[in-house]
Amino acid sequence: PSSAVRDGDGAVWIGGVPVAELAERFGTPLYVMDRAHLRDRADEVASAFREAAERHGTSVHVYYAGKAFLSTAVAGWMNAAGLRIDVCSGGEFAVARAAGVDPADCGFHGNNKSDREIAEAVESGIGAIVLDSAEEVGRVADVAERLGRVQPVRLRVNSGVHAHTHEFLATAHEDQKFGVTLAEAPAIVAEVRSRPGLSFLGLHCHIGSQIFGAEGFSESASRLLDVHERLLADGPVPELNLGGGFGVAYTSSDSPTPIADLAEAIIGDVAEQCARRGIPVPVLAFEPGRSVIAQSTVTLYETGTVKDVEVDAPGGPARRRYVSVDGGMSDNARPALYGADYAVRVLSRASAEDAVLVRIAGKHCESGDIVVDADYLPGDVRRGDLLGVPVTGAYCWELSSNYNFLPRPAVVAVEDGRARVIVRGETADDLLARDAGWDQE
Ligand code: LLP
Repeated sequence: PSSAVRDGDGAVWIGGVPVAELAERFGTPLYVMDRAHLRDRADEVASAFREAAERHGTSVHVYYAGKAFLSTAVAGWMNAAGLRIDVCSGGEFAVARAAGVDPADCGFHGNNKSDREIAEAVESGIGAIVLDSAEEVGRVADVAERLGRVQPVRLRVNSGVHAHTHEFLATAHEDQKFGVTLAEAPAIVAEVRSRPGLSFLGLHCHIGSQIFGAEGFSESASRLLDVHERLLADGPVPELNLGGGFGVAYTSSDSPTPIADLAEAIIGDVAEQCARRGIPVPVLAFEPGRSVIAQSTVTLYETGTVKDVEVDAPGGPARRRYVSVDGGMSDNARPALYGADYAVRVLSRASAEDAVLVRIAGKHCESGDIVVDADYLPGDVRRGDLLGVPVTGAYCWELSSNYNFLPRPAVVAVEDGRARVIVRGETADDLLARDAGWDQE
């Protein structure tokens, strides 16, 4: 986080609070969120898209994708920064509403929305439902018509473009669970337009996550605009939603395009394509999650066992230092799930020792339980040191589990020398609280 500074003894302070104090007060592992960083970044992302849209004669809706991390505090901060909230379950929607977010500022995604989720969303007056299949048209329309409402909807389509970091792959046929094909879209939109309970906002597409360049978005937009243009012949198509997926740097080898440049490149390209087609530039919508929140948070761990293991290396036997921490795949599943890379630093002190290659291991009974595959720490790293793994604000707490009955860590927000728990950590009692036993009356 941007507020991290080292004092004269080499100890790191985040948001004006020394990490040792955070560890002492709240325990480890701990997710430490730099509130100022998050607020600045939310503003930066929102204005990047807004300013690019203005430059190209249109406007934009920016939704924060709550799946990256959601709590009532964060939903409120995002909303205050002018971001709408994208939810993909009734549970996420309930958090946004508990935060006081106006349902009209929310969008609802999902490939398998339940009847109850649809009913609650429509009844509450949600701003948009993203239809994910032909059958959902009738399910949403029936609810809206019974209530005498007109529900704004988007249609999620597959552009066939899949992007990851700097590469994208464009296919003609899709084999995935989300959305409908571009070929199916016109008939489904005709059905939407025939229903008095629905109003059609436009097409939606999400091409992937942790994307560093604009090219995949432009290719996808071009494919969507072919259909968008056809749909204009039979009625208004006010919006085009290009989803989220903007990447962040987890380690020094990641180099995502800055968000303002990405926004300009994507929106500029859409505007140019529209000019070429002679159609108005639609209102654009985006759904960034990771790029807003990932870098606000560092996970604090305490070092436990340190051991050197002899390994076979190309130049003969070598030593690898395993540094074990008090969390692992239960608080950050991303390395095990996706092979994700992270970096690590000692935060509690400075050291003049030479750096050694380390692997940070969790405490779970599983050999794939690695938090950081390879990074360098001072050679005297030892039991009791506080380690920080940065860029853990997105999809870490969200994907956390109680594997091996570890309690989930708390999320603490720090700012101006104050630390506050925004999500309570679990306790040993919590771990047994839902165990109902067998011998019941
Ligand atoms: N919109 C839609 C429809 C999405 O499916 C997603 C993410 C987003 C927006 C936000 O994408 P973002 O800007 O955060 O990349 N658990 C994985 C990432 C899964 C992303 C799922 N969809 C990970 O930890 O890398």
